[in-house]
Amino acid sequence: MRARPATADDAEAFGAVIAAVAAEGRWIATEPPVDISERAANVRNWVDRGGGIFVLEDDDGRVVGTLGLHPTGVRGVVSLGMCIVADARGRGGGRMLMDTAMAWLADSDMHKVELEVWPDNERAISLYERYGFEVEGTRRDHYRRSDGSVRSSVIMARLLTGERGT
Ligand SMILES: CC(C)(COP(=O)(O)OP(=O)(O)OC[C@H]1O[C@@H](n2cnc3c(N)ncnc32)[C@H](O)[C@@H]1OP(=O)(O)O)[C@@H](O)C(=O)NCCC(=O)NCCS
Repeated sequence: MRARPATADDAEAFGAVIAAVAAEGRWIATEPPVDISERAANVRNWVDRGGGIFVLEDDDGRVVGTLGLHPTGVRGVVSLGMCIVADARGRGGGRMLMDTAMAWLADSDMHKVELEVWPDNERAISLYERYGFEVEGTRRDHYRRSDGSVRSSVIMARLLTGERGT
């Protein structure tokens, strides 16, 4: 496996990964149905705008994971979202994607990266902590799901100040 910046050619596969993980109904905020063509168009725009978007590919070149650093509307702060298809998890791909994204951020003028995670997603929280993310708070009963349930999320973030050039 290896992680690398996404290209326009990855757009459909990127959308398909998000659709597959959303269909599990367990890990990410996005719920089905995911419009893969619309996602793909977003990916192509994102690549055109200069990146901050990455894929994980397996040894056969199949895209099995994604990581995006989304603009937040706050200058210098991006929001991280990532997912890997079920059969490719637990094999170091999460770390590969994070290594690639953190290297990109260290070379950028961003000063902070944030994310949200479900409180019971222990694997993701453990990965984020390993990369220096700290809990900033909880959004209590914030997200209403399509089944009518309401979920809380944990906000985590890492400051990047002073990392440029290191
Ligand atoms: C969260 C996710 C990106 C992690 O990627 P991964 O490839 O499964 O994880 P890795 O193999 O790179 O392991 C990274 C770290 O996760 C933790 N981890 C891995 N498997 C774990 C498990 N079963 N339980 C708890 N922690 C685990 C460990 O800290 C590990 O580091 P280590 O191997 O050095 O100890 C991936 O599992 C995934 O996409 N899950 C579904 C979607 C999702 O939850 N996305 C995040 C939404 S906020």
